[in-house]
Amino acid sequence: MRIERILVVDDEPGVLELLRDFLSEKVPCVVCAASCAAARALLAERVFDLVLCDVLLPDGTGGELLREAQAGKSPPPFIMMSGQGTIESATEAMREGAADYLVKPFQNDQLEVAIRRQERWQRLTDENAYLHGEIAQEISGELLGESAPLQAVKQLIAQVAATDATVLILGESGTGKELVARALHRLSLRKDKPFIRLNCAAIPENLLESEMFGHERGAFTGAFSRRSGRFEMANGGTLLLDEISEMPLALQSKLLRVIQEREFERVGGNHTLRVDVRLLATSNRDLEQQIREGSFREDLYYRINVIPLRLPPLRARAQDIEPLLAHFLRHFAEHHGKPLPTVRPETLERLRRAPWPGNVRELQNSVERAVLLARPGVPLDSADFSLASSATAFAAAAPTPSSEDLNLENTEKRLIRAALERSGGRRTEAARLLGISLRALHYKIRADPEISPGFSVWHEKSPG
Ligand SMILES: Nc1ncnc2c1ncn2[C@@H]1O[C@H](COP(=O)(O)OP(=O)(O)OP(=O)(O)O)[C@@H](O)[C@H]1O
Ligand SMILES: [Mg+2]
Repeated sequence: MRIERILVVDDEPGVLELLRDFLSEKVPCVVCAASCAAARALLAERVFDLVLCDVLLPDGTGGELLREAQAGKSPPPFIMMSGQGTIESATEAMREGAADYLVKPFQNDQLEVAIRRQERWQRLTDENAYLHGEIAQEISGELLGESAPLQAVKQLIAQVAATDATVLILGESGTGKELVARALHRLSLRKDKPFIRLNCAAIPENLLESEMFGHERGAFTGAFSRRSGRFEMANGGTLLLDEISEMPLALQSKLLRVIQEREFERVGGNHTLRVDVRLLATSNRDLEQQIREGSFREDLYYRINVIPLRLPPLRARAQDIEPLLAHFLRHFAEHHGKPLPTVRPETLERLRRAPWPGNVRELQNSVERAVLLARPGVPLDSADFSLASSATAFAAAAPTPSSEDLNLENTEKRLIRAALERSGGRRTEAARLLGISLRALHYKIRADPEISPGFSVWHEKSPG
């Protein structure tokens, strides 16, 4: 967490000016307020990473502002500034949740130290939240299913988990690639060390490098502090490069170097770091095809493809539907506090024959919906699982196309919209349905935001 937006509240114009001059050199955005009312208005309409707040103000106290902010959703940390006469109010504010306090007059150095301390604290809080999320997922980590293809997968997992070999996990979206990666870690000698995941498709291209390798303070606008990347976080443990097919070429070369030499530098740094990390990677796209198209490096492919593990699509292992269905029914009934619904044998048969383009995740989602809509005592039927998929409806539409339908651009927009709807806004899945890369999909959406009004576009970082 980097502190980028600071609100300074003080009624003395001289103090405000000094603080603004000093902070503007360190932080991209510094905003000043000379009264409680002005601060209140700013806090209501903008987001700040930190508030530097005088204790006594003409129309109220810093303590009041703090209390009001804390009633809101995610209050920024407050550093109180007090004169000799108001130290007691400042310590009082600390009891009410202020992050720190400074006694006036203070040196710029003292202020800088206090800000750094907040950054460090925020970073620890972020990492902690991230790890908690990971632990929650870890609990439900069992790979269910006894079909022959899945048994082969489990056997391969058992064979390679304890080695340090790089495993490339391949399979359509929703087949359980991440689950397999977690199992590989759990069954390895590194199981007590971190399992860190980096989703190469979910992070904007310009931030991916610093996410992987970290950055030094001042490496780029907004790099206010030094930050470690996922390679460092994973030291001693396992790093999962999720959806590696989406990694930009320039970064692929850097990754190749880390794999070959086990060392790297943080962005903007010249200090070489060495790490001991086991790599896992996933892809739902055909990497060999990408090599032919020039969007994936062949040498990197050979480095990561030491042990390929292919997860078969759900339609190729109908036998797994029943145990998965039973598991998800129980899970969601309990989760939503609903009675456990029953399923007619003919419905089970239809579920086993359905194509499941979104694989296990699609099954999981449709079971959750069915559980939520179930009426007590009435067995679920195929309609409850919405098996008549929108794709079939779409294909059957418009036997005689109108001139509007023939317009290529319109058709493309319509298909993108349909794919986004179908995937519930999940772009990776939508891109897969459309048969284009995630990056191409993002490009199209960014070029025409109307395509997906409901789904927000990444924010490019604006300089300064
Ligand atoms: N064999 C399985 N047993 C139990 N749950 C499973 C199984 N396979 C997948 N799941 C569940 O299905 C969901 C999707 O799995 P996962 O996220 O691992 O898929 P993925 O292949 O990584 O998908 P994507 O390509 O979309 O990222 C998860 O909630 C996972 O727990
Ligand atoms: Mg995944």
